[in-house]
Amino acid sequence: MDLLARIERREEWGRVASEKAQAAGDGFLWRTADKSQGGRGLPAREATTPRPVPGRDEHRDGVLYVRLTLRAGELAQQAEPGQFVMVKADDGLDPFLRRPLSFHRINQERGEVQILFQVKGRGTGLLARRLPGDALQLLGPLGRGFTLEQRMFPENGAGTQRQRVVLVGGGIGVAPLLALAEKAARGGDEVLLLLGARSRDDLLAVSDFRALGAQVHLATDDGSLGHHGLITDLLDQVLREDAADAIYACGPLPMLKKVAQLADQFGRPAQLSLEERMGCGLGACIGCVVGTKGPGGQPTYKKVCQDGPVFPAQEVILP
Ligand SMILES: Cc1cc2nc3c(=O)[nH]c(=O)nc-3n(C[C@H](O)[C@H](O)[C@H](O)COP(=O)(O)OP(=O)(O)OC[C@H]3O[C@@H](n4cnc5c(N)ncnc54)[C@H](O)[C@@H]3O)c2cc1C
Ligand code: FES
Repeated sequence: MDLLARIERREEWGRVASEKAQAAGDGFLWRTADKSQGGRGLPAREATTPRPVPGRDEHRDGVLYVRLTLRAGELAQQAEPGQFVMVKADDGLDPFLRRPLSFHRINQERGEVQILFQVKGRGTGLLARRLPGDALQLLGPLGRGFTLEQRMFPENGAGTQRQRVVLVGGGIGVAPLLALAEKAARGGDEVLLLLGARSRDDLLAVSDFRALGAQVHLATDDGSLGHHGLITDLLDQVLREDAADAIYACGPLPMLKKVAQLADQFGRPAQLSLEERMGCGLGACIGCVVGTKGPGGQPTYKKVCQDGPVFPAQEVILP
């Protein structure tokens, strides 16, 4: 579905890299803008002064994360956790290609979806400048999302049992996991989030998971919050304690490889959300293929945009 969505709300988090800003204790920013705040939604100073280009000016060498709430009625009705949209970052022709972004949250009652992204390059940099009230061109929902595993107990009258669902996120890989956590919690599952990032300022949406009643364990590379080390160290521990029925992961490739290896070692089902550079998002350009195991274990290829982005861990061959 090709549609126009209206930006309702814009939130940003970021870390300025300059030593001066950090010395002033000003390394972490947070701004929120709502359509309801009047004008184009930003405080007067920001509405009247030229906005810096995120990732290029104030965030040079820093990090910027933006969350947009979009009014997109029909899309919200159809979207599933783990699926994504191709977003046109700017109304002009440059960049020409849309950028893939996952559903971060899906609210069918309000007809809203959220996207959460890290500014990486030109596309996300331009998208980060869009304001409440702006219209965004979207294509979606695309791909195959997460499937919540159900443990069947036929001896109990084909009933199902409350599952312990473990979500493993690395950095911005947390983006699609909140929508999944919401769905799992609605279905009565117990949710455990294991979230790792470079530093405490890169741990996003933690309060939203806690508000759902999810248990949250954190890890940072620099030890600034939670476990000092890799988030997969905590997954290892959880699996040793036999406290996971199914695992769902999104994050950097080395993290996904370790999750797949641990899931295999402990015999637990795992689903991985993969990222590949995408041209069309529709299965037409063959730009996003990934190696998979076909029938009889024969290597074959699948398209991340159409057959994924979520794959069973035992099916994909991670490079
Ligand atoms: C199915 C899917 C869902 C995604 N969901 C999210 C999300 O919810 N939030 C989010 O922040 N990002 C997400 N991404 C990654 C996001 O699409 C890229 O960061 C974005 O397209 C970069 O565009 P750009 O123009 O800003 O950067 P570019 O100028 O195109 O590239 C800048 C840097 O980003 C890297 N990059 C570009 N595309 C990708 C990609 N697809 N995956 C990984 N690295 C890439 C490049 O290698 C380069 O180093 C998703 C990717 C896929 C395939
Ligand atoms: S992005 Fe074109 S085939 Fe997947």
